[in-house]
Formats: sequence, structure tokens, C-alpha cells
Amino acid sequence: MNGRREFFKWGLGGAAVAAAGAGLITYRSYPINAWQRAVVETWQPVNSNLASGEARLMELVRLACLAANSHNTQPWKFRLAANSLTIIPDFSRRTPIVDPDDHHLFASLGCAVENIVQSAPELGLVPSVEQPADLHDGITVRLESSTIGPSPLARMIHLRQCTRANFDAKPVPIDDLKALETVAAGGKTNLTLLASPEDIGRFGKLIADATMSQMQDSAFVAELKDWIRFSYGQALDTRDGLFSLCSGNPALPGPVGRVLLGFVATPASESQRYEKQVKATSGIAIFSSAEDNPQHWFEAGRSYQRFALEATRLGLKHSFVNQPVEVPAFHADLLKVAGRAEGRADLVVRFGYGPEMPRSLRRPVGAVIV
Ligand SMILES: Cc1cc2nc3c(=O)[nH]c(=O)nc-3n(C[C@H](O)[C@H](O)[C@H](O)COP(=O)(O)O)c2cc1C
Repeated sequence: MNGRREFFKWGLGGAAVAAAGAGLITYRSYPINAWQRAVVETWQPVNSNLASGEARLMELVRLACLAANSHNTQPWKFRLAANSLTIIPDFSRRTPIVDPDDHHLFASLGCAVENIVQSAPELGLVPSVEQPADLHDGITVRLESSTIGPSPLARMIHLRQCTRANFDAKPVPIDDLKALETVAAGGKTNLTLLASPEDIGRFGKLIADATMSQMQDSAFVAELKDWIRFSYGQALDTRDGLFSLCSGNPALPGPVGRVLLGFVATPASESQRYEKQVKATSGIAIFSSAEDNPQHWFEAGRSYQRFALEATRLGLKHSFVNQPVEVPAFHADLLKVAGRAEGRADLVVRFGYGPEMPRSLRRPVGAVIV
């Protein structure tokens, strides 16, 4: 009897422990599994087998949303019509500290429109971008039916990533550098490539100084923290923002991550980290414009997105180092490196060979259609 009681005691206790353990494992693994499923669903290749008008437009919106965009705020909405798509800036997703004039917001819209332009032929559509004088009400892409044409860059959309990993400094073949220059050309944007170790080394110092200045700005750090998703659950709930894992940091409960960030990412440590990353890279790409206005920012975004898709096709990884774009005190120095007397340096990217990183999410298409 005693033995049976003992058995029941241990049996029930063991069952409770097992249940608690299983619960904990389910609690911990549920968001990881769900996040992994969401990543796979998000990063699907272009689907060329869509005949109907509405489904094709929705597919174009999905591909547009896979574009790079500042802080992964996804600052866009889309209006569908019979033969066109309009992308509308979503100013509720502004980042007023890092991007007070909405430069990055309009560049992000350019990235998204470029994905539409590149993928339309895969869906049997010929795109033409109607860029109004004032971009605040949106940019319309007209789409005329045609035969399906393969687009090598469209097939890279689901593979492109802003890879915040260390690269190795292996030189990029000259033909590949030329291919990157060719693909980035064609709009209002100028591309400057730094590919010699001396030029890259000097540029590393500029990045280090700009990073130090940016990280000393408490308003910048506070806004950045608001867009960091520290846990799988946060990343999944919002499907936007900068998930820690994508930057090579561990996933942590949100409040813990917020506190730890202040200790781990100091101005000095970030400045050193970026300088090292920039120096150990094959090349730097600076996108600049003759004029400093939304039209040109939008074009710079389009040019970067083509560059990024071509880099992906060539087996190169890339990541933004926009600190000197974002801290006005460094604008003049950056413009000088870009070889321009006036205008604005819009975007800075380091590129090289490196590993893939965990992927960022996007909100579902239904959430961005108005
Ligand atoms: C205009 C613009 C500015 C950006 N600035 C930075 C930056 O300074 N640092 C950075 O790490 N990523 C930057 N990004 C990259 C975004 O954070 C990235 O696209 C977003 O998190 C989504 O990740 P994914 O492109 O890998 O899908 C920028 C992207 C755009 C379009």
C-alpha cells in the first residue's frame, strides 16, 4: 500500500514535472517553430503561374514588400486598380529621429517599386512608373499585359538580404564590379565604388566616427530600441522591425534585451565593430544624387535595389552602413568620397563574401492593401 502511495506520489509528481517540462518546451519552441514557418512563407520565390488580374497584383505587392526598407518599418501601403498599382507612403511608420526629412522612407519606396518593375515581366506584365512631381500622394506603376518574360533579377528577390555578418575581404572580380555599376545606372543616381584596401581602410575611419556620434545620441538609441524585436514572439507579433537574431545577437525576452543592449552596444564598442566590419570587406558602394529631394531619394532606392539583386546573383552579400548619411555632420565628408561637389550621398553599402544570416519578416499582404 505504502509502495502504491509512493508510486502515485512519484508517478503524479513525475507526470507534473514532465508536463511542466513539456509546457516549457512548447512555450519556448512554439514561437521558434512559428517564426521559422513565417520565414519560409515570407521568402517564397516569384510565382509566375498566376493568371488572374487580382492574384497577379497581390503577388506584385508581396514581392514589393520583400524589398529592403529602413529599420524594416515597411512604410508603405498599396492601392490596386485594374491595370495599375499605387504605392503610398505610410507616414505612421516614420522614424523621425534617424530620418527627420523622410529620406530613407522615400528611398524604401524606391526599393519596393524596383521589385515590382523587375518582377512584372515574370507575371506577363510590362511596367511603367509614373512618378509625380510630389511623391507624398504615392507613385503609380501602370501594368500592361504581355507575354511572360524571364527576369534574372526578379528571381533574386527572395534570396536578397541585408546581411549583418562579417565578410571576408576577398577581391571581387572586375567583371562583377562592372556588372554592379551597370545595373545600378539608369536613373538619377550616381554610384561610387571603393574597392582598394587603402580606400576602404580610410573609409572605415569615417564610419567609426559617424557611428560614435550616432550612438552618443540618446534619442537615436531610444528610437532604434523601439524598432528592435528582441524575442521570437515580438518578431512574430509585429512582423516588422529589426529582429536581434538578424543582427547576430541572441533572441531574449523583450525587457531583458532592452536593458542589455545599453551595456553591450556602447558608442565605443559599436564604433570599433563597424570599423572592423568595413575594413574586412571587398568593397563599399556609395549611392549619391545631384539633388537632395524625394524624387532623387526614391531613385537612389531603386538603384540600390537593382544593385542588391545583382550582387545576390553574383554570390555577394551586402549590408548598409548609413551612419554618415544619417548624421548631418558627416554629409560633406561623405559627398567628397563620392566625388560630388553638391547634392547628397543617399546610401552606403558594404559588400563582400560571407554567410547568410537569419531572415527578417514582413507583414502579410492583406495588412498593406488599402
Ligand atoms: C533607406 C534604407 C536605409 C537603411 N539603413 C540601414 C542601416 O543604416 N543599417 C543597417 O544595418 N540596415 C539598414 N537598412 C536595411 C534594413 O534594415 C533592412 O532592409 C530591413 O531590416 C529588412 O531586412 P532585409 O532587407 O534583410 O529583408 C536600410 C535600408 C534602407 C532601404
